[in-house]
Amino acid sequence: MSESTLTGKKALVAGGASGIGAAAVRALAQRGAHVIVADIDPADFHRILTLMLESPFLLIRAVLPHMYEREWGRIINVSSVHGLRASAFKSAYVAAKHGVEGLSKAVALEGAPHGVTSNCVNPSYVRTPLVDKRIKDQVATHGIPEEEVVKKIMLTESAIKRLVEPEEAGELIGFLAGPFTGMVTGAAYTMDGGWTAS
Ligand SMILES: NC(=O)c1ccc[n+]([C@@H]2O[C@H](COP(=O)([O-])OP(=O)(O)OC[C@H]3O[C@@H](n4cnc5c(N)ncnc54)[C@H](O)[C@@H]3O)[C@@H](O)[C@H]2O)c1
Repeated sequence: MSESTLTGKKALVAGGASGIGAAAVRALAQRGAHVIVADIDPADFHRILTLMLESPFLLIRAVLPHMYEREWGRIINVSSVHGLRASAFKSAYVAAKHGVEGLSKAVALEGAPHGVTSNCVNPSYVRTPLVDKRIKDQVATHGIPEEEVVKKIMLTESAIKRLVEPEEAGELIGFLAGPFTGMVTGAAYTMDGGWTAS
C-alpha cells in the first residue's frame, strides 16, 4: 500500500486511458490524489454530438426554407430507443439522441404553420453494418458466441426477442414521408419490440 502523500491534491493525466498514462493514474490514485483523466474518449463525445445532433440541425436549417416555400415538407429524424431511454456507458449517444428529440419537436412547432411536419423514428437494435460490427466487438471482448451477445446484451430490454430489420425501419420512414401524415408531428415513433412499454 502506497503512502497517502497526495491526499487532497488534484492530478490531471492526459492520455490516461491506456499504457503509461493509465499506470500513472493508478499510482496517483493509490497515493490519494483526485485524478482527472483526459483521453480521446471526451473527444469522442464531441464527435458524436457533432455527427448526431449538430449535423441534423444544419441539414434541417438548410432544407426548411425550401419546404416553407412549397408549404409542404417532412422532416424525419432517425433517432433511437436511446432518444427516449438511457443505457449505461452510452452517454454521448444517449445525449445526442435525446437532443435530436428536442430538435425534432422544436422544428415541429416552427414548421406547423408552413405545412412541414417533423418526427422521430426510434428503433431498438437494427440489423445493420453498425450493429454487426458492435456484435463482433462484443464477441471479441467477452469471448461469447454472437447469438449470446445479441440475446444477453442487445435484447434484454426488448419484449420481442429479435433485432429490427432495416426494411421495417425503412417502411416506417416511408409511411411518415407520405400523404396521410399531415397531422403527425412532434412525435416519436418507437419500433423497439416493446422496450419502452415497460
Ligand atoms: N443500427 C441500429 O441498431 C440503430 C438503432 C437505433 C438508431 N440507429 C440510428 O440509425 C442511424 C443509422 O445507423 P445504421 O445502423 O444504419 O448505421 P450504418 O453504419 O450501417 O450506416 C450509417 C451510414 O451513414 C453514413 N455516414 C456516416 N457519417 C456520415 C456523415 N457525416 N454524413 C453522411 N453520411 C454519413 C455512413 O457512411 C453509412 O453509410 C444512426 O443515426 C443510428 O444512431 C441505429
